[in-house]
Amino acid sequence: MFAVYADSFSSDDPLSGLVVGERPEPEAPDGWTTVTVKAASLNHHDVWSLRGVGLKQEALPMILGCDAAGLDEDGNEVVVHAVVSDPSWSGDETFDPKRSLLSERHQGTFADKVVVPRRNVVPKPASLSFEEAACLPTAWLTAYRMLFTRGDLTAGDTVLVQGAGGGVATAAIILGRAAGLRVLATSRDEAKRARALEIGAHEVFESGARLPVKVDAVMETVGRATWSHSVRSLKPGGRLVISGTTSGPQLDDAELTRIFFLQLSVVGSTMGTRDELASLVSMLDATGARPLVDRVLPMEQAAEGFAAMIDGDVFGKVVLTR
Ligand SMILES: NC(=O)c1ccc[n+]([C@@H]2O[C@H](COP(=O)([O-])OP(=O)(O)OC[C@H]3O[C@@H](n4cnc5c(N)ncnc54)[C@H](OP(=O)(O)O)[C@@H]3O)[C@@H](O)[C@H]2O)c1
Repeated sequence: MFAVYADSFSSDDPLSGLVVGERPEPEAPDGWTTVTVKAASLNHHDVWSLRGVGLKQEALPMILGCDAAGLDEDGNEVVVHAVVSDPSWSGDETFDPKRSLLSERHQGTFADKVVVPRRNVVPKPASLSFEEAACLPTAWLTAYRMLFTRGDLTAGDTVLVQGAGGGVATAAIILGRAAGLRVLATSRDEAKRARALEIGAHEVFESGARLPVKVDAVMETVGRATWSHSVRSLKPGGRLVISGTTSGPQLDDAELTRIFFLQLSVVGSTMGTRDELASLVSMLDATGARPLVDRVLPMEQAAEGFAAMIDGDVFGKVVLTR
């Protein structure tokens, strides 16, 4: 079948290991099901895989892609949940130490077909296109869990989203607005700040700028470059929810004094559960909020989408269609 896969790693030139070609048809083990992929979306995770981060040499060749929407074996429209937990695991699968994301241990979604455990498919409502639904399982699910599960935010609360251009950040802005939050966002880039306002931020600021109000929670994916500002932006008792460190994981000043004196919480967040994905899908169906799609490309042109991501030339998601 048609597939986009990693054949080798290169930290300097990740595109050199990307192959657009053919892989054998997958066979669904007991308890698993085959999804015919209609649309898939790119994440930084796919670029990290080509750089050899999180993927082992012996796993190659590996079909890339965590996110997909398509048709199940009965022709029903579905969204694929990307977190595969151990069969013996019960409860919140993001806490399973043996969990993996599609394209880490099991073949990914950039192909005609992907096989997943039966419980990893969620019904897709007709109101969402395949392209929109394919944006949800990684970046959007991460933002959903950060805001509503780990961040515990409810209508009327104020949230700060750092680094407005990123996939998780744009999702947090759109979902936060749809849920009745007051949304503040930062970006280093004036054009990205303007886009953040268009997609739902109430107010935007340059990275590091003093805010007019303190916030209930900060959604942090930038890391080192914005950490200090995040801590300083919180109300007493506020929550700093972190799911990524794009600018680096080391801190110049962890702001420890402020953290204990203002009784702040630092909360880690990773991906989300199948049930949270189902809730996210329902939320979009009910509110009309939609993922921000930067561009849609046929899957044959995957390299073009990867290049745009590597260059940082995207605002929203890159979607690949079959
Ligand atoms: N834990 C999980 O489950 C999970 C899931 C998805 C993603 N992630 C992680 O979350 C992070 C964000 O990923 P993403 O794909 O959403 O976004 P991204 O494209 O990697 O970037 C996020 C934003 O970071 C800002 N940024 C980057 N370098 C900066 C710097 N030096 N100073 C200030 N701002 C800077 C940029 O914002 P501006 O240009 O607007 O300033 C950029 O738009 C990544 O590290 C990713 O691995 C984690």
